[in-house]
Amino acid sequence: MKFFVDTAEIADIKELADTGLLDGVTTNPSLIAKSGRDFMEVTKEICGIVDGPVSAEVVALDHATMMKEAEVLRKIADNVCIKVPLTVDGLKTCKALTGEGTMVNVTLCFSANQALLAAKAGATFISPFVGRHDDNGFDGMDLIEDIRLIYDNYGFATEILVASVRHTTHVLQAAKIGADVMTAPPKVIHGLFKHVLTDNGIEGFLKDWEATGQSIL
Ligand code: E4P
Repeated sequence: MKFFVDTAEIADIKELADTGLLDGVTTNPSLIAKSGRDFMEVTKEICGIVDGPVSAEVVALDHATMMKEAEVLRKIADNVCIKVPLTVDGLKTCKALTGEGTMVNVTLCFSANQALLAAKAGATFISPFVGRHDDNGFDGMDLIEDIRLIYDNYGFATEILVASVRHTTHVLQAAKIGADVMTAPPKVIHGLFKHVLTDNGIEGFLKDWEATGQSIL
């Protein structure tokens, strides 16, 4: 399972990239606004930190303008992945871009039928938003299960990128279902490393080790 971080904060991306466990980055217009940085500048910087896909989202709503925006964005770096919304124009843009060999992440997916359309449009990634789905009285993980089943039925190569991840249980559930990728805020990824029994165990071992008076180095 690939791990992407969902942020435009450079310090957070660098810290996670240093672990060697980060496979890519996703951003969206809200995250860019939160960073307070220039979109082009910060995207270029992120692309230099990670080798994997860095999603940069178009903001136009019509196909022709989406294509123009994508043209600008994909020139930033080879690892830019163009993010388009799950609309008719977004999927037209997806089909055109992937046909030219550009990676595309289809975002704002809230139904398995939408995911089916994205796969037919040749999407590199489909981003179902599990957290926002949960917030609206549905089970986001049911959506992931349905998409996994449909994609496996037809052998679609589109990768399921579980997005809008709010907690570590979402990551566990996504992994059990067999999602290809998950993108989460830095805090959630850091939470994956933690377990109270790990901390307690280290504390106990170190106490006993100190009592031996020995040193390894
Ligand atoms: C995915 O690519 C989106 O940027 C993101 O996961 C949205 O998450 P949110 O619902 O927490 O805003």
